[in-house]
Amino acid sequence: MRVGILTGGGDAPGLNGIIESVAKTLLSQGVTVLGIEDGFEGFLLGRHRELGLQDIQGCHQFAGTILGTSNKFGLRGHEQEFIKKYQDYKLDGIVVAGGDGTFANLKGLQDQVQILGLPKTIDNDISGTEISFGYDTACSVVANAVDALRSTADAHRRVIIVETMGRTAGWIALGGGLAGYADAILIPEISFDKKDLIVHIKKKIAQRRGLVLVVAEGATPQGELPMVAHHVVGSPQTERYGGIAEKLAREIEAEIDHEARHVVLGHLQRAEHPTATDRLLTLGMGVAAAHEVLNQRWGQAIVYRGGRVCVSPLQELMGPPRLVDPEHHWVKWARSLDIFI
Ligand code: F6P
Repeated sequence: MRVGILTGGGDAPGLNGIIESVAKTLLSQGVTVLGIEDGFEGFLLGRHRELGLQDIQGCHQFAGTILGTSNKFGLRGHEQEFIKKYQDYKLDGIVVAGGDGTFANLKGLQDQVQILGLPKTIDNDISGTEISFGYDTACSVVANAVDALRSTADAHRRVIIVETMGRTAGWIALGGGLAGYADAILIPEISFDKKDLIVHIKKKIAQRRGLVLVVAEGATPQGELPMVAHHVVGSPQTERYGGIAEKLAREIEAEIDHEARHVVLGHLQRAEHPTATDRLLTLGMGVAAAHEVLNQRWGQAIVYRGGRVCVSPLQELMGPPRLVDPEHHWVKWARSLDIFI
């Protein structure tokens, strides 16, 4: 057998774990593994290399992807070219770790191309799986930042606002903010009333020296739209969000007797080495993916549901994003702790 492996979309800690786990399992069964470089863009440009044990050994511990990836290129209009390349490479199938954009690109190609999918998004919002790898690592980055920033917030009696990733889904802000016991968590799914937020801040600042708030980049005050920082031409999602933490810092400062500062965590959330939880998850998903390949069960996805790694139809990764339900028990936990959300 000759099988390709491709990582697509924005990187997430754990992609290398998927590569090592899938490739090791396949190589042990005599399968030839072709590493496709730079996602779909590299696939069409003929960028690939055969992977041996020495190429993948130990890569699981690093963030990023040893194959490279791209989130600024869509397959629309290149479908026939893609099928032609797939035939030229003489592949029996291709293991794809990607996000909603990656699988949307592959929607119409399943009859001609054998695909095995692995859901990947730092935002934890891809449909079909309850947890995506990299999310635990991103939450750790946020929680550690909140904990660390408390010292300087307390020292200066300041309010510090931490901006996290999360375009339409607030999972990172919510999970990381809870884990760091932030004083407020603002997520895209629950637009907030600025006046209520100020009341909360005034109450809290009377109780402790400094405050740390967490805001997802796509969060909005009631009646406002998300703040667009810039556009990436050619990307399936051209808008990049950013700026809400800085804007809030200025607005909050104007309402209270304390200074406010902001910190944008940005790509640090995708750059940390994967946690043990993410390593175990990708190890299990990789082994399961390789077993599906060895049994020629294509058109499937490896997902995490009900505390287990399991198999589901690939189409289930192509549904709408999985957003935070405002009634989610994590939201209720936050309110029980008097965290504004
Ligand atoms: O969709 C994943 C994500 O990390 C978002 O949270 C973030 O808005 C975006 O990608 C950043 O994209 P880029 O890496 O192109 O700046």
